[in-house]
Amino acid sequence: MKPLVKTQRERMLKSSALRYHWNKSIPMDMIQTASSDISWSHMGARASDAVIAKLMADAINIPGILSLAAGFTDNAVLPAQLIEEAVSELTHNVSSREFLQYGTNIGRQGLREQALQLLKSNPGEESSQLTVDDVFISNGSQQALYLAAQVLCNEGDIVLVEEPTYFVFLELLKGMNLCPISIPLNSDNRIDFKTLTELVHFLQARGEWNRVKMIYLIGYYSNPSSRSLSYDEKKQLGLFLQKLDRKIPVIEDAAYRSLYFDSMYNVPSLLGMPEWESYPVLYTGTFTKPFSTGLKVGYSICNSQPWLQRMLRVKGHQDFGTSNFSQAIVERVLESDRYQAHLEKIRAHYKRKMLLLDAALREGGVDKNGWSWDVPEGGLYLWLKGPDHVDTSMDSDFCKAALDEKILYVPGDLCISGNKKKNYVRLSFGALDESQLTEAGLRFAKIAVRFS
Ligand SMILES: Cc1ncc(COP(=O)(O)O)c(C=O)c1O
Repeated sequence: MKPLVKTQRERMLKSSALRYHWNKSIPMDMIQTASSDISWSHMGARASDAVIAKLMADAINIPGILSLAAGFTDNAVLPAQLIEEAVSELTHNVSSREFLQYGTNIGRQGLREQALQLLKSNPGEESSQLTVDDVFISNGSQQALYLAAQVLCNEGDIVLVEEPTYFVFLELLKGMNLCPISIPLNSDNRIDFKTLTELVHFLQARGEWNRVKMIYLIGYYSNPSSRSLSYDEKKQLGLFLQKLDRKIPVIEDAAYRSLYFDSMYNVPSLLGMPEWESYPVLYTGTFTKPFSTGLKVGYSICNSQPWLQRMLRVKGHQDFGTSNFSQAIVERVLESDRYQAHLEKIRAHYKRKMLLLDAALREGGVDKNGWSWDVPEGGLYLWLKGPDHVDTSMDSDFCKAALDEKILYVPGDLCISGNKKKNYVRLSFGALDESQLTEAGLRFAKIAVRFS
């Protein structure tokens, strides 16, 4: 007789299957019949309001609200002076006005060289064989994530993601009718290769394995969990994937890599590891979070020319080049040591803010009422786990109470694919100033304690 108590593995596999079924079962007639006399494409009909856009609008429009939700950076440390200097140097010292002209689809040569140097400045990556031809500039790293999915995936395909993961990426997948499946983790929060093997077998048995088209990982100070992948996880995953019957391109999102607090996380990217040498990897970085969010300049480094060229073709259709002026400003700042000095400053700043929010939550008694979180070593987020019975999702009483208290957070279930756990919360300490941050932490604590 089958045991009644299911193992965690069995539950995980079953929930993966349910998720896939859910994805496949979107009825086509629903997609085609939209409430309008315009006939939408499948993508147009499916497009739902981006939760991120609502959270950002609420933060601006609700009077007195304190937002711990959207992953904004802090206006107080945005590099206004550096940008003023760079613009002045560009307009006064540089005879050509090319930076005010259209640029190239792939991005400015100088900036691509600087981006490559940034990668190679990390321990273990100095001797990388990658060249400037492997680098392109995008409209934030978000565009690169979208391009990657567009050239690899068709509707109904599967993407393996971490749990939890970047919720805007999950929305991107939903918008493209792709199915995220979580890579299983063990009790130490590390990839569980035994269960991953079973997941592969399970998908093979269902004839779905060929639909797995991409893997998305956040290597450093993840949004939302602030977790970084360990050296061993990266190595084992490389060995694991090499043994499979075909190659599944992998994205390593490194949006927060340079936003460490005390010391750099000393694990090379996948691009710098021998286990990944002949495996297609797209490394996405950005100058938004660590420099100027509003300039919206990102960069990608890809060790597969065919993959990179496909993405560039689609980028050519989309915008045929990221804002040349924004790129020129970033390039100018990177050419001097001003960029590194700026990073030093903001690392200390965000660490202070993280500690303030952490202290406010503890002062409000959150940790004494069944909530727990790891104190991050970088990034912009605290990832809180509440007691099992607490439901923090968008329509929950918890969320309504938070709004009454004039506080915004990101419900954790948005960051989790499939089998929804509702007792998590993402709090961002990026945007609010220091006194607001303490007040926001105390307001959140009031709700968390009341619902515990
Ligand atoms: C993990 C992660 N990746 C990518 C992005 C996209 O950032 P951007 O387009 O500003 O470079 C974000 C933004 O919040 C993020 O958190």
